[in-house]
Amino acid sequence: MHDLPNGLPARPNSLEEHWLPFTSNRDFKENPRLVVQSEGVYCWDHKGGKLIDGSSALFCCPAGHGRQEIAKAVYDQMTTNSYTPHFQMGHPGSFELAKRVTALLPEGMNHVFFVNSGSESIDTALKMVMAFHRANGDGQRLRFVSRERAYHGVNMGGVSLSGMVKNRETFPVVMPNVVTIRHTMTGKDLFHEGQPEHDGVELANDLQRHCETYGGSTIAAVFVEPVAGSTGTLVPPKGYLERLREICDEHGILLVFDEVITGFGRLGSNFAAQHFGVTPDICTMAKALTNGCIPMGAVAAQDRIYETITNASPMNAIEFFHGYTYSAHPAACAAGIAAMEIYEREGLFEKAAALAPYFADAMMSLRDHELVKDIRTIGLMSGLEFHHDGVPGRRGAKMQKDLFWNGCHVKFTGETAIVAPMFIATRAHVDEIIDKIRTTMDQQLA
Ligand SMILES: Cc1ncc(COP(=O)(O)O)c(C=O)c1O
Repeated sequence: MHDLPNGLPARPNSLEEHWLPFTSNRDFKENPRLVVQSEGVYCWDHKGGKLIDGSSALFCCPAGHGRQEIAKAVYDQMTTNSYTPHFQMGHPGSFELAKRVTALLPEGMNHVFFVNSGSESIDTALKMVMAFHRANGDGQRLRFVSRERAYHGVNMGGVSLSGMVKNRETFPVVMPNVVTIRHTMTGKDLFHEGQPEHDGVELANDLQRHCETYGGSTIAAVFVEPVAGSTGTLVPPKGYLERLREICDEHGILLVFDEVITGFGRLGSNFAAQHFGVTPDICTMAKALTNGCIPMGAVAAQDRIYETITNASPMNAIEFFHGYTYSAHPAACAAGIAAMEIYEREGLFEKAAALAPYFADAMMSLRDHELVKDIRTIGLMSGLEFHHDGVPGRRGAKMQKDLFWNGCHVKFTGETAIVAPMFIATRAHVDEIIDKIRTTMDQQLA
């Protein structure tokens, strides 16, 4: 391929210097997969191949790649005011974006703290929980509850809450006092669309058992992804989230939903909170907040959380000693506002809801294949799990690469493909993704 419009070579002269995240670097550098252009649901690789994006990149680009409205909004912002810090001053964009985000959230969640990633949103939420309990005279609440197979990003807070062994076994020095409840994958509801039927209340009662073991008044918060995403789309069984909410209320424990993937329409509702009819005290988000165009995350809090923390300090004092240089960066705010406008104008969350049944059927059409162990779907999110080949992770890694060269990008975790189309995708796009997955599956057997 020729040089790119920005003058960079399509295939850089050296790949050595960039140490890639969550990547087998040595293998990648021998056989790179570089995306040089993207538009709508498609991308193009450095050899000129066209790929359909089957995971909305990393679940962050529901409105499609290359949105001109977002690019223009960011350009206009950059040429008007490229950066203003938010420590004791501000710029209008952050207030506008916060207002638009709260309009999408359940009632009462009217305060938004901006960060730069999902991982930062988790650290921020942890601190918010601590600050709330301290301001409430409840400083003995020092224990956090997370879940097996949880993914809450890679900062030390998120690693402390992590339930994915590879993400934590190398980094044992983490926050103390984190206990886990079981994950929700019982194996009783294989090949299931929507919420599994079994064991919702029973699994959530793990939290009650922690209350009985440690004392509910020592537990600060429970962190859960409403649908565990990065571990392969584990949908909560019926009654599960409701029961968690009930136990939290009974013991004064805060319920934190990590909606970094499920926020902004992925399940067909604004947030998973509305989809499941369960309202958390704190909600983290990132990814689709800017349609993946500029790094940004956020933490939304119920009024009582904000008010308790804020009112605990004298009028002229800083109330929450936390924030990042790039919290609410003007470029990110401009991208966020433009993304919210697109979501609303094009009715993209409704489109996601409308496409979901077709997508679920299309995914389930793969169940006859001998490599397939399980398929789970909800909204425009799914886990397609393969039997492993004796070495965990090997088949998934190979299939992800083969699929790329067959013209489709899908994010894998271990043996599970997390297929999550864009909201602008049509039925024909879904068919194209499924065809490419099936071809790649067949190749594994040849
Ligand atoms: C549920 C959840 N929380 C947190 C994160 C971390 O987000 P980031 O990679 O932006 O730090 C992710 C990323 O996939 C996620 O899925």
